Amino acid sequence: MKEMKKQPWWKNAVVYQIYPKSFQDSGGDGIGDIQGIISRLDYLADLGIDAVWISPMYCSPQDDNGYDISDYQDIDPMFGTLADMEELIAEAKKRNIRIIMDLVLNHTSDEHRWFLEAKKGKDNPYHDYYVWRDGVAGEFPNDMKATFGGPAWEWVPELKQYYFHQFSVKQPDLNWENPRVRREIYDMILWWMDKGVGGFRLDVIDQIAKEPDKKITNNGPRLHEFLQEMSRETFQKGDLITVGEAWGANTENAKLYSDPDGSEFSMVFQFEHMVMDQQPGKEKWDLAPLPFVKMKQCMAKWQTELHGTGWNSLFLDNHDLPRIVSRWGDDKNYRKESAKMLAAVLHGMQGTPYIYQGEELGMTNVKFADITHYKDIETLNLYQERLEKGYSREEVMESIYAKSRDNARTPMQWSKEANAGFTTGKPWIEVNPNYVEINAEEERRDPDSVFAFYRRLTHLRKEYPVFVEGRFDLLMEEDEQIFAYTRTSENEEMLVCANFTGEPAECGLIGTWKDAQMLIHNYDGDVSETLRPYEACIILRRKKEN
Ligand code: GLC
Repeated sequence: MKEMKKQPWWKNAVVYQIYPKSFQDSGGDGIGDIQGIISRLDYLADLGIDAVWISPMYCSPQDDNGYDISDYQDIDPMFGTLADMEELIAEAKKRNIRIIMDLVLNHTSDEHRWFLEAKKGKDNPYHDYYVWRDGVAGEFPNDMKATFGGPAWEWVPELKQYYFHQFSVKQPDLNWENPRVRREIYDMILWWMDKGVGGFRLDVIDQIAKEPDKKITNNGPRLHEFLQEMSRETFQKGDLITVGEAWGANTENAKLYSDPDGSEFSMVFQFEHMVMDQQPGKEKWDLAPLPFVKMKQCMAKWQTELHGTGWNSLFLDNHDLPRIVSRWGDDKNYRKESAKMLAAVLHGMQGTPYIYQGEELGMTNVKFADITHYKDIETLNLYQERLEKGYSREEVMESIYAKSRDNARTPMQWSKEANAGFTTGKPWIEVNPNYVEINAEEERRDPDSVFAFYRRLTHLRKEYPVFVEGRFDLLMEEDEQIFAYTRTSENEEMLVCANFTGEPAECGLIGTWKDAQMLIHNYDGDVSETLRPYEACIILRRKKEN
């Protein structure tokens, strides 16, 4: 008899992402903190999520909001203490919620002890923890650029050397070729595992095996060797969820990252579907309409290629992306409908869904009047760079309104009280003024809210195995308005059908699903063969017994 293999727990889990600076302030200093998160655990339990990924809270000078770590084994006082962190892990556990730490292993802060030592001399034991090249001032080893603007090399006159940084100058890249670096990292991971964390999200993990002389950053030749070693030495000793962030992933290497044998991570977090609404070969700021058919084909490709051979993360929002309801929905005329539609399309797929704070409320992008209100290093650098290149201020602000990471970083909208209930002080970044209409308090009362829809979706995933197991088939592939697909498992068959536009759309296949059970629907009344603006539903039928 064929034995049923037990699925790992994270396959039917839903993960919630917290950006701690903007989630809930408990101390009145305008910055979110760990006690604030603890005070909102009941809210998260009510939403039905299983794990919380929290963006970095380690000690950090905050050049890149915590993605520049100066001590991996302590909490930044801005967020609380190590004791608060232990309390959070314990309180979350009481509610069956696991805490996922964000591990930034490609680089540290330039204020990390290792880097301070490394700068002292070429023979310092920590020197080789980073990536250095000899040279002369003003002549960079090569023309590589940093993601946040400017060259990827920074001159250190005392050493007559450049160090390599893929992100800001305050984020020097670690040298993974050095086995001592790897050992330090593994010991640190084991230390956190010992504290009871439920998993890790691995920041830009496809960039660790760099070879700058060959201009290789992503997918370096030794990448999977390093990942397999790390997994063996750490993750495989526990029952964790591990998520590799990989901007440069394709479906082939994703099968390595997320091989069901557990040799690397549980799943990959890739962005192919998230970089389509920009001009080909250009930057994300060079806006272009979403090529809808291509986007569907891309998502379908990931669904079919990874079925049975890997595992994907399902997301449309995170702390690096604009708000999806403003990006692919309509945040003016159909905010609720389009937010729900996007959720249904995503949560019906195979993979582990991620809800980014405020997405479950249909929170929108923000338009601050001018650049002085923005905080993100990437946005601020872009603004300067483009003005210098001759772009008009209006053009640059248009790009920022559409794509700035700060769109996702405005404070969580809890209530219609001052500062959206986020803080009693002055928030570190301004609150989106629409909190008066869009807030958690209001939505939790309203059975028809975006929040209620997300709660239903998280529960459906637990109730119907087809969400986890079913094979994916894209329907109406060339249709310019409809996103439709089926999921098929041994006993169940499910149709997800959505109108991605603000105009009515014909969808004949609804007629062939007449007797099926409606699991979720974002409009009142029956669904017909003409879908209303942004109408979406998920329908289920059980297969006939043989
Ligand atoms: C990842 C993070 C992003 C950060 C970058 C550098 O992409 O998600 O916020 O700026 O890595 O660590």
